[in-house]
Amino acid sequence: MSPVEVEKQSRPPATVALTDPVEPGDRSPKLSYPFGTITIPQRSKDLVMQALEMGRVSCGNYVQEFERRYAQLVGTKAAVAVSSGTDALAIALSVLYDQGAERGDEVILPALSFVATGHAVLHAGFTPVFVDVDRHTLNIQADRIEDRVTARTRAILPVHLMGKSAEMDTICAIAQRHKLLVVGDAAEAHAAQYQGRDIGTWGDLVCYSLYVAHITSTIEGGIITTDNGEYADRLLSLRVHGRHIDSEGGVLKRADATQMLRIGDGKRDMRFSFERMGFSSRMNDLEAAVGLGNLEIYDEIVAKRRRNLRYLMDRFNAFSPYLYTITEEAHERLGPHAMPIIVAEEAPFTRDQFARYLSQARIDPRNLFSSIPTQCRGYEFLGHKRGDFPNAEFIGTHGLHVGVHQDLSQEHLDYLLETTGRFLKDYT
Ligand SMILES: Cc1ncc(COP(=O)(O)O)c(C=O)c1O
Repeated sequence: MSPVEVEKQSRPPATVALTDPVEPGDRSPKLSYPFGTITIPQRSKDLVMQALEMGRVSCGNYVQEFERRYAQLVGTKAAVAVSSGTDALAIALSVLYDQGAERGDEVILPALSFVATGHAVLHAGFTPVFVDVDRHTLNIQADRIEDRVTARTRAILPVHLMGKSAEMDTICAIAQRHKLLVVGDAAEAHAAQYQGRDIGTWGDLVCYSLYVAHITSTIEGGIITTDNGEYADRLLSLRVHGRHIDSEGGVLKRADATQMLRIGDGKRDMRFSFERMGFSSRMNDLEAAVGLGNLEIYDEIVAKRRRNLRYLMDRFNAFSPYLYTITEEAHERLGPHAMPIIVAEEAPFTRDQFARYLSQARIDPRNLFSSIPTQCRGYEFLGHKRGDFPNAEFIGTHGLHVGVHQDLSQEHLDYLLETTGRFLKDYT
């Protein structure tokens, strides 16, 4: 069937009816495949109750403990928790102002990402400089980065989209040559590894989202990992309005206002000494309590999601040449965030037809982000035009993703595969 004929179809193929809403007396199986899930273990609930009963709910001991454990998990010296993955990126980039960066300086990032990556660059006061992505890895084309470096470039911000690491060896080498900061966006890359090391150790600072549907969560939240103690101190200051921290970084580490007064020099109220343009972005102890409970089941969740992702990825080869997904190469382990599905250029159907078919079968797909500079209206003011980032734009119109989360059973995975097979039979 030609694409035009498909487009003209006024009603979906008959097979869709198998999963249409249940009619009285209908006994056919009605599986639904949700996009995401949230696990809140009993341990999290107990810790939340303890925090509430103690009346210590703002940024305190639980946050510190969560940071300590997260740094240990990833293998970095420090981790600083904030209120979202977006803030994590903006705050991490803002360490640059202590080392001579000026507002309007440039940060290089991929054109394709969740829009928050672009927002964070602008929130931090920098100018985003977009580079197109590769259609197969979905990540920034590392060999195009150096062309975009100018006298005003201060940082490279690679995104490890869908848990697949960007080419960090090439990116770090470019950064070293030009003395640029590397801030990784690992919002979707918990548990990803690149060349045997956790992705949270690649670059100067690495930012995670802890939003509900992610591999590990504090419900809302973000965290930044780093091996650089000086950066960690700046992050602590930046997350509370740019407040002063003492030479040992001790003041804000305690995050306790009365403590600050005592540690201050006795003449000034250190709580009101602001040294940076900061953010209001503390994590609170209730969120950290949820996160602490979740870290206890982190390995279990990662293992389950990784099994699901690999099971689906292996079988998706059968849908070539019409559909493709990312691959896990020898040098890496994917972070099992979700599975991207790209409708190939030669497919005689559209992404939206496939997404609709899945939805009608109660499988919940989501579109895979768009080209931030050319497909997101909020970025029109930058003056880019359609066609500037052809690969990112292609993914913006041809990509979607489905969940691989811990609450999906073997039956769900097989149902997705069967439904996709049926769709291809009907549409090709
Ligand atoms: C690639 C990427 N960067 C940044 C973010 C922003 O994270 P948050 O929603 O926690 O602000 C997300 C959110 O999922 C993301 O997918």
